[in-house]
Amino acid sequence: MTPKHERHYKRAMELIPWGTQTNAKRLTAGCEETMPPFIKRAKGCHMWDLDDKEYIDYRCSLGPIILGYCYPSVDAAVKKQMENGSLFSMASPLEVEAAEALMENLTWVEQIRFMKTGADACTCCTRLARTFTGRDHILTSGYHGFHDVFALEWPNPGVPNCVRDTVHHVPYNDIEAAEKIFETYGEQLAAAIIVPYEWQKETCGEWIHRLRQLCDHYGSLLIFDEVLTGFRLAKGGAQEYYGVTPDFAAYAKAMANGYPVSAYGGKRQYMQTLENTIITTTYAGETLSLAACIAVMEVMKNESVHDHINAMGRKLRDGFNAIFQQKGFPAEARGLDMAPFIHHMDGSDDSQKEMRNRLFVRLYDKGVFANDSWFINYSHQSEDIELTLEKMEQSIREIK
Ligand SMILES: Cc1ncc(COP(=O)(O)O)c(C=O)c1O
Repeated sequence: MTPKHERHYKRAMELIPWGTQTNAKRLTAGCEETMPPFIKRAKGCHMWDLDDKEYIDYRCSLGPIILGYCYPSVDAAVKKQMENGSLFSMASPLEVEAAEALMENLTWVEQIRFMKTGADACTCCTRLARTFTGRDHILTSGYHGFHDVFALEWPNPGVPNCVRDTVHHVPYNDIEAAEKIFETYGEQLAAAIIVPYEWQKETCGEWIHRLRQLCDHYGSLLIFDEVLTGFRLAKGGAQEYYGVTPDFAAYAKAMANGYPVSAYGGKRQYMQTLENTIITTTYAGETLSLAACIAVMEVMKNESVHDHINAMGRKLRDGFNAIFQQKGFPAEARGLDMAPFIHHMDGSDDSQKEMRNRLFVRLYDKGVFANDSWFINYSHQSEDIELTLEKMEQSIREIK
């Protein structure tokens, strides 16, 4: 760590538990040498740390940056709205405009409502499903945020044990485990909430189709947690990508290019359950993020955002594989075009992790902000991918 980073990091650890607000933004053990603890600015697909060192970024702020940092039309819309105010004493007309803009892409959604975080939106979906069905149990699959009901899959003192009685977690793509939960609790299951595609895994449509069938059979609602897949997998998210329609879905990360807003939507009959339960929060109608969201939807409507992202991702993945083969490096780049991942082939899980860290330490050092899912945004250009491939080749040469 450079002296400047070290000074700030020490201070951060004194003042702020973890030194940061987000688990994934903590320094990765084994990468402390070159992973910068702080980023002070970003533009397009580039970002700069406290020492003004530049990185090509493949983390995209953990998913929200879909067009690129400081994307001109989005930031212009935010600045314009700032002149009119960020939060009012009654609803803003932007709430209606943002709903319309989102629903142009989410063609199956009949009503939509805003929140602030991904976890909020997921919690709203499960609350409405429980209210609509009058049932308590839910099946979960994947990470849906830190709220009590979703925080049972890792040691989490502070979450009441009784929550466990009604929440059943199954791993991604484990059809048998899901069937067992439905057989045991089917009549009591309000919903299955699933992350429709787990990054760094092979895609699996059969899993989603089977869950749709199980929900239909037992009268449970199917909820897609599209917090990370929405507007990234495709304009219409996993629903469009897999051609399976859920009853509710939660959206957040890519919908406003980094501005803090989330949404939950679904069929009118299910959303109307809001007449019977109360979900309310002060900041959900905050206008700057809604203005950003409208501007993002406008770009997606008028430009081939996803074609570009997919082309850049393919170039990155194919380039990685050519280097790995040429150098005899035991790894393979896999996964979907918009977010390839590197699978290390040799040794135990621990030695694969060690190899991953050795590679990442070198990539950070060379100005590539590597990520386990190499997220591409609309601002990545061929030159950025080519430079990244050069740095990857150098890093592997050093390791070998
Ligand atoms: C699939 C998924 N759902 C929910 C969440 C929680 O979102 P947030 O951190 O905005 O609460 C995340 C965050 O990474 C996520 O990836």
